[in-house]
Amino acid sequence: MFEAHTIETANKPEFYRELTSQLGGLLTGERDLIANAANTSALLYQMMPDLNWAGFYFLRANDELVLGPFQGKVACVRISKGKGVCGAAVQRRTSVLVDDVHAFPGHIACDSASRSELVVPLIASGRVLGVIDLDSPSPSRFDADDQAGIEKVAAIFLAATDL
Ligand code: SME
Repeated sequence: MFEAHTIETANKPEFYRELTSQLGGLLTGERDLIANAANTSALLYQMMPDLNWAGFYFLRANDELVLGPFQGKVACVRISKGKGVCGAAVQRRTSVLVDDVHAFPGHIACDSASRSELVVPLIASGRVLGVIDLDSPSPSRFDADDQAGIEKVAAIFLAATDL
């Protein structure tokens, strides 16, 4: 059984090197989409400080994001492409980093405690499959190092999983 080890460093690139190494171990030997998304969100929520939500949305029919495995408070189930931070990441096909969600036009407040957000799209063979979404109760919680780290998390998840 895999056991997650607390990461002590305050150095973000080092934190993500350790986190992605643990994620690789966690997903080894399992390719199921739901199982891997569930364990990836649990690892992110357990290991990353100062989060109030971590999880997945998957793109389904009619270009709609549908809630996937996550950790945190109950969340909105369906988000149209282009709506909110998650829908913006799908439309732009790039990560979206929001320092202050109150200043983001169209932000969807699932948990009123959320103040900043990072959304990374899952892209395989040129197709957007969904997003990883992280929320924090602190303004400006996420920076370029977090974006690069979670993009690596997305790449490891995609490589380890049957889509
Ligand atoms: N805030 C997101 C909605 C999803 S929740 O944060 C879990 C958005 O604006 O797309």
